[in-house]
Amino acid sequence: MVGQDSLTDPQQRSETRTEVADFIASQRLDTDSVSWISPTGVGESREELLQIPAETAGLTDQSACRIGDIGCGAGVLTAALAERYQSSKVLGIEFAAGAYDVAQGRFVDSENVVVVGGDAERVLPELRPLDVIYAINMVQDTADPLRMIRALAEALSEDGILILTVPDETATELFPEFAGWDEKRELPYMEMTDITVDGEQTSWHQYAFPEDRLKTVFEQRGLSVVRQDTLSADAAGLLYPMELLDDDERREWAESVVEEQRANPQAGPEIPLYVLETES
Ligand SMILES: C[S@@+](CC[C@H](N)C(=O)[O-])C[C@H]1O[C@@H](n2cnc3c(N)ncnc32)[C@H](O)[C@@H]1O
Repeated sequence: MVGQDSLTDPQQRSETRTEVADFIASQRLDTDSVSWISPTGVGESREELLQIPAETAGLTDQSACRIGDIGCGAGVLTAALAERYQSSKVLGIEFAAGAYDVAQGRFVDSENVVVVGGDAERVLPELRPLDVIYAINMVQDTADPLRMIRALAEALSEDGILILTVPDETATELFPEFAGWDEKRELPYMEMTDITVDGEQTSWHQYAFPEDRLKTVFEQRGLSVVRQDTLSADAAGLLYPMELLDDDERREWAESVVEEQRANPQAGPEIPLYVLETES
């Protein structure tokens, strides 16, 4: 188990994590060979995500709504949302400077997308109310995921929906040597120290979310679940942590999962999906 020391300075952890986000965003613009373990990297999962506002909140391409893509990374989902919901305004928020540059660069000529750089917790109160909020695989990377879920809930419009994907405990079970427990937040996490990203020495920290604990958090934040599901995530995202670990056996395993998903896009890792609304 990793000790608690590195949890004492959330700001420091935020800063180090942006290096990983920047690196992946810069690679992702040209190729999908380096990617997050995210449903936005799988066409069918992305389509499912895009459909949720239409299915759950009745949005059409004529609706003039405000849609947030929080922790938008390189802007893959942001672009798809802007194309699908053309009369809506799509607001991306991204914390890591390099990833922000990549996302922002995509939309310089766009009429319905704005990408804002900064910490979502600080930026969200300025952009609210939002009718649809996507937080796709981002909450786990924040310094305090419980505070971030509150900020997301508070940014929703009265009938707004929050679309959230977060990792379950698969990773902490797969890599017990990097697993730790955050007593204050009652959440498990993964932490790797002394890794090299793009030639720089850094560390990596990510929370995991047991279903029961997450449901308690939702309740405390005044959120109720309107849909619970799973989506296939991009298996290519597994290759990157294996590179960091320099572990041949696990790399081979990850490569076999990627191969399998190439043959069958639904065969990748599964990531939990929650669609939430504020309790009235
Ligand atoms: C795992 S990536 C997922 C990117 C994208 N949503 C996807 O699924 O393809 C998480 C992203 O959230 C961003 N992020 C983390 N903490 C953030 C915060 N406090 N405010 C805004 N963005 C944040 C990271 O910089 C990173 O780009």
